[in-house]
Amino acid sequence: MERTLVLVKPDGVQRGLIGEVIGRLENRGLRLVAAKFIQVSQELAETHYAIHKGKPFYNGLIEYITSAPVMAMAWEGPNAVAAIRQTMGATRPTEAAPGSIRHDFALEVGRNLTHASDSVENGEIEVALWFSPAELVDWKRDSDRWIFEKG
Ligand code: RTP
Ligand code: MG
Repeated sequence: MERTLVLVKPDGVQRGLIGEVIGRLENRGLRLVAAKFIQVSQELAETHYAIHKGKPFYNGLIEYITSAPVMAMAWEGPNAVAAIRQTMGATRPTEAAPGSIRHDFALEVGRNLTHASDSVENGEIEVALWFSPAELVDWKRDSDRWIFEKG
């Protein structure tokens, strides 16, 4: 079972798309593990996006993610990292597959609505960065056996 961090970024929150993102992940069959609505601190933004430090878009990215509240969530499921990246669509909305969130709701890379962890390893690291162990809910759904082959 993989875990991944999903953010509805400030533009997604401001545009009333939290429910749309959650609905698509629920419809996909993924299981919610944790959620919180927060104003991201400068420190958390810089740690989360440390890999992009020095890139031309870095300062704008930090400003963007700290500009207004975000909805932070952890989701899990088999192949959750690939499944959620596919549901979000390519980083550049004009390259995102039709039917993906970024295709259906966005135009620009700097206003691309969501974040999703890009590897299983980063999923673990990012979930641990954004959520304390006590905030992660260990639970089973009655529908799990009809969606997950195992576990
Ligand atoms: P994310 O981390 O947000 O899920 O997006 P991603 O993996 O698809 O993209 P990544 O390469 O990690 O970039 C992180 C975020 O930085 C902004 N960005 N702007 N102007 C640019 O060329 C550029 N490139 C990236 C986007 O908001 C992207 O989601
Ligand atoms: Mg990324």
